[in-house]
Amino acid sequence: MKADPSPRPKILILVSGEGSNLQALIEASRERDYPADIVAVGSNQAKAPALAKAAHANIPTFVIEHGRYGSRDEFDGALMQEIRRHNPDLIVLAGFMRILTEGFVRALRGQLLNIHPSLLPKYTGLNTHQRALNAGDKLHGVSVHFVTEELDGGPIVAQAQIAVGADDSAETLAQKVQAQEHVLYPIVVRWCCEGRVQLGAEQVLFDGQALHQPLVLPAN
Ligand code: GAR
Repeated sequence: MKADPSPRPKILILVSGEGSNLQALIEASRERDYPADIVAVGSNQAKAPALAKAAHANIPTFVIEHGRYGSRDEFDGALMQEIRRHNPDLIVLAGFMRILTEGFVRALRGQLLNIHPSLLPKYTGLNTHQRALNAGDKLHGVSVHFVTEELDGGPIVAQAQIAVGADDSAETLAQKVQAQEHVLYPIVVRWCCEGRVQLGAEQVLFDGQALHQPLVLPAN
């Protein structure tokens, strides 16, 4: 009898909003050679449209509403319990708009990936598109990074750039950045699931070598 094939990596995705990145990951995971299965989608927002996208794809969902918890520690404790239940190899934050506690992030070191709509280290936090416009930036974009205790400050795996045009508004930049997000995130998640990308002691390792600069998909 043939030995069982080694189990495919399991991804758990956390969302708070629309779920367009979730949708991109669902579609990627349906490709025959995609090296991972999405085992669950969790949200801190019961009404997040992303949850309907997950349900439509027959992916189990859970909701941990942050308003029901007295502190960040309690919320993160409940979230951790739910994550452990699914035993994922990788936790993918896809528009998950909660700041996680240091203990939570440390416990999942190297297993937590985030996507952020700016060319980090520029513009951590919110309103990244308007801030890029206000600064007169000619290049803007998106970063995928490992989550560490520093908000939006963990080691960056890859970025995709977009050119900022004279007519761009925060809304058009958001659209252009999101189109790049939907390309970049499935690629980086694939690399993580294939074991090509890992978090080393201080920096990202790509195929076992320290990555001194993020990989960049340039603006075309
Ligand atoms: C994405 O643009 C993502 O980069 C951003 O939220 C959006 C979620 O969209 N994340 C952050 O700002 C995290 N700091 P989606 O729900 O359609 O995927």
